[in-house]
Amino acid sequence: MSPPARRAILILAVGLVLLAAVLGTLWVMRPAQMNRLVEQAGPQIGGDFALVDHDGRRVTQASYPGRHLLVFFGFTNCPDVCPLALGEVSVALDALGPAAAAKLQPLFVSVDPERDTPAVLKDYVSAFDPRITGLTGTPEEIAAAARAYRVYFKKVPVEGALGYTMDHSAFVYLMGPDGRLEAFFTHETKGDQMAKKIQGFLGAS
Ligand code: NI
Repeated sequence: MSPPARRAILILAVGLVLLAAVLGTLWVMRPAQMNRLVEQAGPQIGGDFALVDHDGRRVTQASYPGRHLLVFFGFTNCPDVCPLALGEVSVALDALGPAAAAKLQPLFVSVDPERDTPAVLKDYVSAFDPRITGLTGTPEEIAAAARAYRVYFKKVPVEGALGYTMDHSAFVYLMGPDGRLEAFFTHETKGDQMAKKIQGFLGAS
């Protein structure tokens, strides 16, 4: 193949990837599409879990009766995605106000139980908002919870003092008191948008 032809193919490929990225973003962000996705994928996402909260208590889904759960998986050494998402969650909690926020339990589930002890988690989440509860557990318990929520995570070795980081998917799930998925957000969803969407579900129950 001649160099110009190769360059043309490369430019076309890059263009297609960019186009796909833009369409992908629009597709994720459109509320009607999101509602359809919740309808289709909703029944597959969620379920009971058996973990330890940041005060060292054993908890399950039944530990939060009558409350909506805002569930996010991550880890305290996360450089960007987790702090962004938790920052937006705290903005959402403030926007909802105390009465609405009382109907909602935000849960931050660690995918790095090796380093995220209850004490480490408590320090971390309370820096964002004291209403957020950190959850950890044995590797098996974390894996089971992640499976229930269709969360991907993987340990990745890195240079430097940390030794490894965690790759992980970063959806924030809003679960109803009945344990069903009501909505989900990405780490890029703004806190006020999140609050508006959550308010719609909190009002109904
Ligand atoms: Ni993260």
